[in-house]
Amino acid sequence: MSRTTAPTRSARRPHAANGSASTSTRLFTTKNDLPHDTRVQAIELLGQRLADCIDLQTQCKQAHWNVKGPNFIALHKLFDEINEEVEDYVDLIAERIVQLGGVAEGTARAVAAKSGLIDYPLALSSGEEHVAALSDSLSAFGRTARMGIEEMDELGDADSTDILTEVSRGIDKWLWFVEAHQQQRKG
Ligand SMILES: [Fe+2]
Repeated sequence: MSRTTAPTRSARRPHAANGSASTSTRLFTTKNDLPHDTRVQAIELLGQRLADCIDLQTQCKQAHWNVKGPNFIALHKLFDEINEEVEDYVDLIAERIVQLGGVAEGTARAVAAKSGLIDYPLALSSGEEHVAALSDSLSAFGRTARMGIEEMDELGDADSTDILTEVSRGIDKWLWFVEAHQQQRKG
């Protein structure tokens, strides 16, 4: 998904590979009674959702700062409101990873290497453009959150299922708030 240059990616990759190897197989000791293998898999899956969610949060801020046009103030405020709630989702997911004995990998560089969302275009300016781009991202993240619910359900981690359900419910609400600006008629 990344459109960064090859030298940057190749310089980053060995570091990212070392990081994921150490955190996906070796856990901190915990008295949490979920089976070790369940926790290993849950941490890996939640780590992917964490990267996507932090990426989404930065995209909300990008839209908040740069939107222009006649709906400026409404969209400027809406995008920041979404950012604040997405930050709560980030915290929920990250802290769940740590509760399970894992490491929450939330630096900009770790997120950039791992996120499955498409890059947010930096050249956008109008309200229509930001509404279209951010609704795309909310929709994409909403899809992965729903996938995560199923994965956690299959793993038998009811609390991670609950967290991702809360996240998914919120994302669906924000997608509605954003895409209502571009919905004209039934289609
Ligand atoms: Fe602001």
